[in-house]
Amino acid sequence: MQSYSVSELLNQENQLPEVEVKGWVRTFRANRFIALNDGSTLKNIQCVVDFENTDENLLKRITTGAALHIKGELVKSQGKGQNVEILVSSFEVLGDSDPEKFPIQPKKHSFEFLRENAHLRTRTNTFSAIMRLRSTLSYAIHKYFNENGFYYMHTPIITGSDAEGAGEMFKVTKLDAKNPPLNGGGKIDYSKDFFGKETNLTVSGQLEAETYAMSLGKVYTFGPTFRAENSNTSRHLSEFWMIEPEVAFMDLPGNMDLAEDFLKYVLNYILEHNKDDLDFLEQRLINEEKTKPQAERSEMTLIEKLRFVVDNNFKRVSYTEAIEILRNSKPNKKRKFKFPINEWGCDLQSEHERFLVEKHFKCPVILFDYPANIKAFYMRLNEDGKTVRAMDILFPGIGEMVGGSQREERLEVLKEKMAALDICEEELWWYLDLRKYGTAVHSGFGLGFERLVMFVTGMSNIRDVIPYPRTPQNAEF
Ligand code: 4AD
Ligand code: MG
Repeated sequence: MQSYSVSELLNQENQLPEVEVKGWVRTFRANRFIALNDGSTLKNIQCVVDFENTDENLLKRITTGAALHIKGELVKSQGKGQNVEILVSSFEVLGDSDPEKFPIQPKKHSFEFLRENAHLRTRTNTFSAIMRLRSTLSYAIHKYFNENGFYYMHTPIITGSDAEGAGEMFKVTKLDAKNPPLNGGGKIDYSKDFFGKETNLTVSGQLEAETYAMSLGKVYTFGPTFRAENSNTSRHLSEFWMIEPEVAFMDLPGNMDLAEDFLKYVLNYILEHNKDDLDFLEQRLINEEKTKPQAERSEMTLIEKLRFVVDNNFKRVSYTEAIEILRNSKPNKKRKFKFPINEWGCDLQSEHERFLVEKHFKCPVILFDYPANIKAFYMRLNEDGKTVRAMDILFPGIGEMVGGSQREERLEVLKEKMAALDICEEELWWYLDLRKYGTAVHSGFGLGFERLVMFVTGMSNIRDVIPYPRTPQNAEF
């Protein structure tokens, strides 16, 4: 007898006299019909039990959540809703599940409840679909870079440098918190710590990726990053995954082309390979939308939104143009923005980003050439002396999806910038070396993986697109 996954069985053209499958019971109807799921696909396989010839005590053990090993014959289904089904010849209960206590009942659960049961939430259609999509997306990302001549680089997770200069890092230490060694000045003496210096969890692999771009040419890193900012929003995590390509001899327009091409490729890949999961999540969203007032409903379905991004050019707009648009916008004039736009130089809040993408341009927008003083130290200064070659890509419903830039390749300019921001040259000696030995124009960007998964799945809370979210006051599981 051959073992199959549910997905393999559902794709069979022919009847098969002897098949085996293992999975978890989703529902058991009329003492006869088991809907079995093994995670290989959204769909369940119907397994028909001959209840008249089965021991009653064994039948009682077929409960939602139980793990079963089923043997039987794969036949064309008599009922509607499926092409094939299994006529069960024998089955074994591998693991019982108390139907009274199993948290995932065959009914609608709130996302809050499922977050508290994140270890079991992938037993639901919604979360299994999301996590399959997440997996396919990761694969598509590696595939894109692999097909385009990029090397995959593993940047360190423990680091001594603060790439973003924002100082919102998690400390890594083995010092005794109650009684740390102090130096002469009464400060903690990190030279006595495990690494002999102060270390943190990385906020970005960019600086290390730059070193490899300046030798291997085209590289990318795709790994976990950590931010200790206390932002309890639906778009921020304390631990999230970031994709960061870095390319030598590439300028900012090249960086925009790369990001746009890359995003379209991975979205297209999903459209071609995960139809069942997308259809399911699209229907979920349509149902959710029905509960909203007309004015708040989305004009496009989930799949239409993905198609739209794949088929249309992103709009490229300078920060200066964006400020003009925002300054003259209705919500600004009617004082509807929480942070009114008065003058050039202010940082854009998510309300402004959303206005630009969702109301004004109605498509993904690449904003570039931001004021130098609201962006990180490593971005290349423009000839005007006040803006830098930064780019942010904004997506409808998400806001900032990508942040990137052309890097400052001129040693003296970089040093001045670091001095102005009090960034220690000794700490970044190796980063400065790149500007001493064969410096060149180079660029890259960072894409927040969970923000991409949010866009693809239509989920509105970032905690629902990562297996075990880490957020302020929460590190369960
Ligand atoms: O804009 P950020 O901070 O850029 C960097 O870290 C650069 N070093 C990247 C580079 O140029 N190589 O972060 C990049 C992206 C953001 O656009 C956003 O999508 C995501 O990372 N991101 C977060 N996602 C979830 N939770 C958070 N707390 C995030 N912070 C940033
Ligand atoms: Mg950013």
